[in-house]
Amino acid sequence: MQQDHKRTLITTALPYANGPVHIGHLAGVYVPADIYARFLRLRGEDVLMIGGSDEHGVPITIKAREEGVTPQDIVDRYHAIIRDSMKELGITFDIYSRTTSDIHRHTASEFFRHLYDQGKFVVKTSEQPYDAEAGEFLADRYVAGTCPHCGKEAYGDQCEACGSSLSVTDLIDPHSRLTSAPVSWRETTHWYLPLQDYEQALRKWILDGHREWKTNVYGQCKSWLDMGLQPRAVSRDLKWGVPVPVEGAEGKVLYVWFDAPIGYISNTKELLPDSWEKWWKDPETRIINFIGKDNIVFHCIVFPAMLMAYGDGFQLPDNVPANEFLNLEGDKISTSRNWAVWLHEYLRDFPGRQDTLRYVLTANAPEAKDNDFTWADFQARNNNELVAILGNFVNRATVLTHKYLGGTVPAAGELTDIDRTMQREVAEASARLTEALSTFHFREGLREAMEIARIGNRYLQETQPWQLAKTDTARMETVLNLSLQICANLAIAFTPFTPFAASRLAAMLRLGDLSWNQLGSFDIVAAGIEIAQPELLFEKIEDEAIQRQTERLEEIKRTNKLKAWRPEPQAPDIDIDTFDRADIRVGTVLECTKVPKADKLLRFSIDDGTGTPRTIVSGIAQHYAPEELVGKQVCFIANLPPRKLKGIESQGMILSAASAGGKLVVIGPTGAVSPGSQVK
Ligand code: MF3
Ligand code: ZN
Repeated sequence: MQQDHKRTLITTALPYANGPVHIGHLAGVYVPADIYARFLRLRGEDVLMIGGSDEHGVPITIKAREEGVTPQDIVDRYHAIIRDSMKELGITFDIYSRTTSDIHRHTASEFFRHLYDQGKFVVKTSEQPYDAEAGEFLADRYVAGTCPHCGKEAYGDQCEACGSSLSVTDLIDPHSRLTSAPVSWRETTHWYLPLQDYEQALRKWILDGHREWKTNVYGQCKSWLDMGLQPRAVSRDLKWGVPVPVEGAEGKVLYVWFDAPIGYISNTKELLPDSWEKWWKDPETRIINFIGKDNIVFHCIVFPAMLMAYGDGFQLPDNVPANEFLNLEGDKISTSRNWAVWLHEYLRDFPGRQDTLRYVLTANAPEAKDNDFTWADFQARNNNELVAILGNFVNRATVLTHKYLGGTVPAAGELTDIDRTMQREVAEASARLTEALSTFHFREGLREAMEIARIGNRYLQETQPWQLAKTDTARMETVLNLSLQICANLAIAFTPFTPFAASRLAAMLRLGDLSWNQLGSFDIVAAGIEIAQPELLFEKIEDEAIQRQTERLEEIKRTNKLKAWRPEPQAPDIDIDTFDRADIRVGTVLECTKVPKADKLLRFSIDDGTGTPRTIVSGIAQHYAPEELVGKQVCFIANLPPRKLKGIESQGMILSAASAGGKLVVIGPTGAVSPGSQVK
């Protein structure tokens, strides 16, 4: 493959340090970026992979306020969790830093100052939401009110209940989440980057110059550009962030989407203080931004405009392979609803199974459309693909080598048509794999890598070396040599995808440094060497482990339902006479039994003060054991016409409250009263 570049700078969207990372982040950004980085490194390319935490922005200050700690506490906590869990998953960042580092504050501040000095900003005064009680401006997220679309409580940027995007002025009765004070409006001044000034250059660069970009990315850029660009505020009235470095800007910080992408530069600088510039300013460097689809406009329009405004040789990205979103069991992943599989929890629950998660997230990657993660699919792919196809082939080849040859790699003799066909198939799959990875088609690449294992299994089935061992040792040796060469191909092909298993396989075969150039060839393992004892590359995942995960999700669903519960809207008015006609009384439960052949019904015998016990049948058997209510006082409607239920005449109706989650709680007086007392 011909190269038109000297080195590749891979950047990965900096995750907000207001929570741990989940499978959506991984499938969208970090797993594909790592596959690509490992692939390029195996090809011997000069590669840097840059990551870090995005530690500014309003969500972090909100989280801190909720917990009564400082924003710094929050980012310290989540930065450590994110950094450590990604490392454990084998994401090979050359640096994983953070936007609260000194070097970043300095770099971002200097970036702003340079644009400011060059007159690249326009200043605008506008009215912004303000909390007069707290004496603070309010970010959209800090304003709450009633959603005009669904009537539920919503924030000033969007309604989580119905998904509408909103602005503060859309909300009914907007108030501050800091103090509950009604929102007032106050003038404030901010710096804006006039994006429209860069529109022509952006059009030329993307629409003419990068037709090869993924259609989802190209399409989003085109529609932004066609709508026409507008000035974008790059500062905010907020206490948490990089201070705006000009006089008269007290209490103002850089907008998080201004400082965060500069983090890519700061982190490169932190890693390579003396040589960082060639990674950003040399036209022979290729820059690739791995992101999720919600980041496209910032990486393809806003940040490039910032870089153009800065000048000084900063290069624009060559490609921005943004992914769509991953759902979990059919529902949108959500940090606030805890609807996610968190990486650090996965690593705790499935120790040593990093490869399985990487594999499943790649096989299901939301490359062209949103996709779904399910635990059933996770288990099936591990057991039916990693174990049954890849693991099985490697196991057969290495076990047979030990069984018949004491573990010594045999030499290959003369090749037959079967051998040559197999070799051609491996070479073709390898070429398709290389092509897929070069063009960011990681799912397809993974299918081709697995195809090599399938070819291996077919080859063993066709050649039956266990039969040849009895009849034709020389032929058996050729077959095992070629099978071990397939194993070596698999060690290379799977390094980007499942690096832990691939490196164990390479060690088993005593391979030294692997190179992508060897892929598709059949002289990787040297004859005469002794391979290690076979070990299983993958193990089955049992039903119990999956069940624990699905139960956890069910539990979260129940909790969320309870949290989302709202009382029924009030019924239309009635007059007092209508109410008075209902005769509600208190009675004491004398007896209570289950009604045979009815799961829902309990039969009560109630002292209603008349001297003759009253029978009432009530549909609350799923909420109370019969003995629970004996001796208790309950309220009932006395003047309903009698009704037959399962052959029993019910003389009234016991009142109960219908609570969240469908729970029923029987209503009774809060102090002892005489049976037969009226409720008014
Ligand atoms: N924190 C942002 C998000 O999670 C991504 C920031 S990417 C960067 O959506 F380029 F700004 F760093
Ligand atoms: Zn709504």
